[in-house]
Amino acid sequence: MQMLLHTLHSYNRYLILAALVFVLIRSFAGWQGRKPFESLDNTGSLVLLILTHLQLLIGLIMYAFTSTWTQTAFANFGAAMKDPMQRYFAVEHIAAMLIAVVLIQLGRTFSKKATDDLQKHRKLAIYTSLGLLILVLSLAPKGLLFGSLTDAG
Ligand code: HEM
Ligand code: HEM
Repeated sequence: MQMLLHTLHSYNRYLILAALVFVLIRSFAGWQGRKPFESLDNTGSLVLLILTHLQLLIGLIMYAFTSTWTQTAFANFGAAMKDPMQRYFAVEHIAAMLIAVVLIQLGRTFSKKATDDLQKHRKLAIYTSLGLLILVLSLAPKGLLFGSLTDAG
């Protein structure tokens, strides 16, 4: 089970990164070029949101029940805080990713609520950029942006 969740969580990261880049290119081009907000813009943002929510769900299940990192950390939290990778998965990863997920969610919610196309592109561009920034700042230093800790993916 952990193997399956880990593999899904690991590969889904690439889908999320691709969706983030797609949404950002279209929203910035739409914002700066004052283009209409098309159905492809909406679909891109919806796909990004679904992938992100799926990642959140898998992450929460692994965090609470199956991850060796977090289970080891919960058994002795004091010791875990002294181990950089255990501290990362027990505290830093979940904190940073929850913020990134909220930002991505806000981008879609505010973009959907906006009444003109310029604001739709703008909200999506700004909040999605912040989400991507936090995601990269948290994953890259640990070598997890494109790399993996195990052979599982
Ligand atoms: C921990 C699990 C999850 C939480 C806490 C969560 C939370 C939310 C929240 C707060 C919204 C916004 C509702 C609104 O804008 O009124 C939402 C929307 C949505 N979620 Fe999730 N979600 C989770 C898992 C999932 C999963 C696993 C999927 C699908 C694979 C999913 C698909 C969607 C979709 C399609 C929407 C509507 C998007 C839109 O049209 O703007 N969610 N979710
Ligand atoms: C966009 C959001 C997220 C991305 C891009 C992401 C990405 C990653 C990556 C790249 C790894 C390492 C995978 C590997 O070593 O192959 C990982 C592991 C992990 N993530 Fe996330 N993550 C996200 C959200 C979350 C959330 C919200 C949680 C928890 C609530 C979470 C919990 C975990 C756990 C527990 C592990 C360790 C799994 C193990 O035991 O091997 N992730 N994540």
